[in-house]
Formats: sequence, C-alpha cells, structure tokens
Amino acid sequence: MTLNLSHAWQALDDHAKTLSGQTLRSLFDADANRFPRLSLRVGDLMFDYSKQWLTDETLARLLDLAQAADVSGWRERMFIGAAINESEGRAVLHTALRRRDPHPIFVNGVNIIPEMLETRACMREFCESVRSGKWRGYGGEPIRTVVNLGIGGSDLGPRMLTEALGAIGHPTLTVKYVANLDGADIAPTLEALDPRTTLFIIASKTFTTIETLTNATTAREWLVAHVDPDGSKPNERQMALAKQFVAVTAAPETAIKFGIHPQMIFGFADWVGGRFSLWSAVGLPLALAIGMDGFERLLAGAADMDEHFRTAPPHANLPILMALIGIWNSSIRGAGAYALVPYSQSLRLLPDYLQQLEMESNGKSIGRDGQPLARPAAPVLWGNAGTNAQHAWFQLLHQGGRLLPVDFIAVAESDYPLRGHHEKLLANCFAQSEALAFGNPDAEPAYRRCPGNQPSSTFVLPRLDPYHLGMLIAAFEHKTLVQGVIWGINSFDQWGVELGKKLALRLLPAIEGSGTLPEGCDTSTAGLIEHCRALRERRL
Ligand code: F6P
Repeated sequence: MTLNLSHAWQALDDHAKTLSGQTLRSLFDADANRFPRLSLRVGDLMFDYSKQWLTDETLARLLDLAQAADVSGWRERMFIGAAINESEGRAVLHTALRRRDPHPIFVNGVNIIPEMLETRACMREFCESVRSGKWRGYGGEPIRTVVNLGIGGSDLGPRMLTEALGAIGHPTLTVKYVANLDGADIAPTLEALDPRTTLFIIASKTFTTIETLTNATTAREWLVAHVDPDGSKPNERQMALAKQFVAVTAAPETAIKFGIHPQMIFGFADWVGGRFSLWSAVGLPLALAIGMDGFERLLAGAADMDEHFRTAPPHANLPILMALIGIWNSSIRGAGAYALVPYSQSLRLLPDYLQQLEMESNGKSIGRDGQPLARPAAPVLWGNAGTNAQHAWFQLLHQGGRLLPVDFIAVAESDYPLRGHHEKLLANCFAQSEALAFGNPDAEPAYRRCPGNQPSSTFVLPRLDPYHLGMLIAAFEHKTLVQGVIWGINSFDQWGVELGKKLALRLLPAIEGSGTLPEGCDTSTAGLIEHCRALRERRL
C-alpha cells in the first residue's frame, strides 16, 4: 500500500526518536555484516553508507517516502522528455545527450537525436583539427592555448574535469578557464598568452550573462589590438575573429550579433539546464583537453549510471540511496550543511561543481504547488580536497558539536604513483571517517574527547578516468532530481539568482558615475556606493 507523503514524513520523524539511544559504535557492534549490507557497487564504483546513522528500518521508511513522492514517476517523465521544468515550460533532457540508445526522443514534435549527434560530430572534427595542430590562428600557427570564457554551468563542469583528468590531457595544448567579472581573472590570463596561438570559447547558454560577455569583449579587444592595432587591416581582423573565437550557446543569433562567425557556433537546446550542460557542447574545452574519445567515455559512464538509475530497484539504486540519506540527515535530523571532501587534489574543484548542482537546483523554499515547504530543503554544501581540509576545518567536524555529515571520495589508484603518497592519502581518508564515526568518547582530559557519531558516506573510484567520473557526476545529478521530487521542488529553474542581477544593472550607472542612485535606494547601499566613489575619485 502506498503511504501518503505527510504520513511518510511523520513515520520518519517517529522512527528517528526510537533510534535516539543508538550510536554508530552500537550499530556496528550489533551487526558484523553492516559494511557488506550497507554498501553498494555499481560496476567498479563503490558507495559505503554503513557509517551513516541509520538502520534497515530507517531505509525502509525512507524508501516509503520515495514511493509516496512518486520518485519513479518523475524519473520516467524526465527520461522521456516531459516538461518537468514547469516554471520555464521545458523538458529536462541532459540524459539524452549521453544516451547510447538511438531511438528518437521528441520535444515539441521534433526528434532531438539527429541534431545532437551532428553537434557531437562537429565537436569531434573541431577537436581533432585543433589537437592535431591543423587548425591555425590568424598568423598561420597552430593553437596552443584554449581559453573558455563562461560562468556557472558554462564553466564549472569542464573546468573541474579538465583539472581532474589532467593526467590524460593533451601534452602541448593548454586549456584555461576565466569566469569572474573581476578583471583580476582575465587580465593575468591574457598577459601570459600569445594572440597568434590562442583560441577563445565563449560559453553561455543565454549569451546574455554579464560576466561572460564582459570577458568576451575584453578578449576580443585584446585580440584585435594585436592583429589590427591601427584599424588598417579589417580582413586580418575578421579572419582572426573567425578562426579564434568560438561560441557554445543555445542562442546562436545573439552570438552572431556579438560577432561570432556562424560556422563557429556549437549549439545546444534549451532543454539542457545550465548546470546539467557539461554533456553538451559546453564540454568542448574538456574535449579539446582530453580528446573526443575521452569525452565520449565520460558520456558512456554517465549513460551507464542513467541506466542503473532507471532500472535498479530503489533499495539498490545509488542515486536514490544518496538522495534518501541526504534527506534523512538534513530534513529529519536537521543538518543544515554537509561537507564533500575528495581525497584527491585532482578533484579539488568537485565541491564547487556540486555546489552549483545541488544548491542552485534545490536551494528553494517554495514548492511546485506555490506553497512554502514544510521543511527546509537543500543543505549548504561545502568542501575542499583532503588532506588540506583536515588541517583547516575538520576540527569543527570532530568537536564542534554540530551534526555535519560528510561525503568522502577516495580513488584507489593514483595517476601520480610517487612512493609513499597515495597510501598515506587513503589512510587519512579512511581514518577520518573512522574518527568521525567512533571518536574517542572516553578520552581524558575532556578537551581531548571526540564524541563520534558524525555520519559519513564514502565513494571509492577505481581511478580517475572519464568513465568513472561520468558515472559519479550523473549519480549526483540524479540524487538532485530525487531530492527535489521528495521536497516538492522544481529543481530545474533558478529564479533566485535573477533579482541580484537586475539590481546590479540598476546600481551600475551610479558606480560608473554616469548616473545617479536609483530611486528608493536604501541608505546602506547608497552609503557603500558613495564611499567607494569617494575613494576612487581621490585616487584619480
Ligand atoms: O545565474 C545563474 C546562471 O543562469 C546559471 O544557472 C548558469 O549556469 C549561469 O548563470 C551561466 O549562464 P549562461 O550559460 O547563460 O551564461
């Protein structure tokens, strides 16, 4: 019998009270098989959730919650292209971008597969041309540096993976990323570049994002200043822009207006959300770094995770378990934050990437029904690479007295097998989850005591390769969907970021000095603007 949703939540609240006497130590002592029972393997990706503070009963109730929220129905609607992003009237089909199955998927009556395959073929051709040195800049030299100008979903995924997969990156082609509006991002980047051998990718779904367009304008001016400093060589200038400026966008007309050559545009559709766009042409800088075969291995790993998510029973379904454990910790036990700690320097940007994925998707408090949510949804996600994190903020996890769950990510084999490094790294990773779980509650004096019971899960990847990273990222994407469904959220819009963008545009004239403060500007904002203006005028 299917429970209704509020009963399922209530059952979990009641159940949590019955567990209050248990510790992670007592749960492990009572069950020698806890690890094999509460861990899961999907291919070679392992997920150990035995150090979560939960029992079989907890899982059963969480699975009831998933059923009551109709997770399987929403999952299917996503895969077949229903317009589940209701506020924007769009399908959510990033999974189509990595599908092996060539069967058509229709959006607004059009089969989306042929165009997607065509874009991928163009990406391959372009990557091969640039990577082999055939593609030349305006002066006839091969491209040596690619600079991706994009932000948020048009930056974080390819940037994170270019770094993560550095060991298989092209030996002489460097791929860099510039995102911030702050000139301190692009200025030093440009300073180190040779205009004859640099290719810019302007990545923006909307092609209206102020950061990206400002950086793209600066990059264009920089290139033009080198190619045609006195404006006497319009043909060279055109040629340089056509050869060395590429756009990746769902708004090709706007890119053309900006000055991108129509044949230098790699498109994707509006049914690809920005933070889910890594698998589309947004992955171009990554494909340039690791080659198109590597990029397609990433897609294959994600496709296999899609298949697992779609077909595995809920109790053995990785994204569903990840989502339910997160909900248990945040919505039932009240953890307002959780840490994600990859024990891998190469994955140090993974927390940044997942921050956008989870917090932009589910950082909401109004449900799909327009009503305030009964419980807070997405917790704050933060983190950085271990072991660095251990020597910065792990103290708070061990003795800070707050419930702060952790997701650890370990990689069994290193790309950099220096003697003595990787074994110590793994030892530290596993020791931290052990210390967090069991502590040393009897230590004397009291200030030495770590109470334990800090829950954690650990993912183990066999190695850092495109396939397993594709699996891992897709698992987090589906986790995000499942959590959004259970919390009753549309995970695929981001209206919350719009207000600040609008207000920035209103304040700009006053800061530039070309206009006055907007009407009704509060005294704090006005005071800050006046103060900066005075400082800047004094300097001038
Ligand atoms: O401001 C948020 C956001 O819209 C993200 O969702 C998106 O990934 C990012 O900005 C960049 O947007 P675009 O790709 O359109 O430049």
